Amino acid sequence: MIPASRLALTTGLLWFVAANLLGLAMGLGLLPYTWRPAHAHMELLGFVGLMIYGVAYHALPRFRGVVFRRPGLALFQVILANLGLLGMALAWGLGWDKPIFGLFAGVSALAGFLFALLMLEVLWA
Ligand code: HEM
Ligand code: HEM
Repeated sequence: MIPASRLALTTGLLWFVAANLLGLAMGLGLLPYTWRPAHAHMELLGFVGLMIYGVAYHALPRFRGVVFRRPGLALFQVILANLGLLGMALAWGLGWDKPIFGLFAGVSALAGFLFALLMLEVLWA
């Protein structure tokens, strides 16, 4: 397993635990509902997204029968995905200004774009 897969799967599971605890805290009224989009994205981008990244980096090259040529870029992509999501979640929850949210949202979007490019290369190059 390449480091990108291991980091994506590990952080995906950590996002899952953190997002569930956040959902629980919101549901119990310990945290305000301003955290709702943070919870939603920690579950969907964090848990679901990173689990998909981790499995895809391992499985897609094998389905295609090729060697994955960009493990370093994949690791960078996983780090970007985590950093972007962390900033987005905190910005939502703590009500940070729009430009700061936008910066992290841009990093998240870039990570998603990079993942799509890397996997399209595996599928078609
Ligand atoms: C321990 C597990 C969980 C708890 C306690 C929890 C709790 C909550 C709460 C309290 C809300 C706000 C609901 C409202 O607006 O009234 C919420 C929203 C949401 N949750 Fe969870 N949740 C959990 C797991 C999950 C999981 C596993 C996912 C997805 C994989 C998820 C996705 C979402 C989404 C997308 C929303 C926003 C829904 C909307 O836009 O209306 N949650 N959750
Ligand atoms: C670059 C990545 C993404 C950005 C920048 C982004 C941004 C946003 C924004 C600004 C909102 C409105 C939040 C609000 O109510 O104030 C939102 C809501 C939502 N997004 Fe995303 N999103 C991203 C990716 C995704 C993905 C990949 C999914 C699902 C797989 C998703 C699911 C949702 C859901 C369910 C809501 C409603 C959440 C709620 O009701 O609290 N988003 N998103």
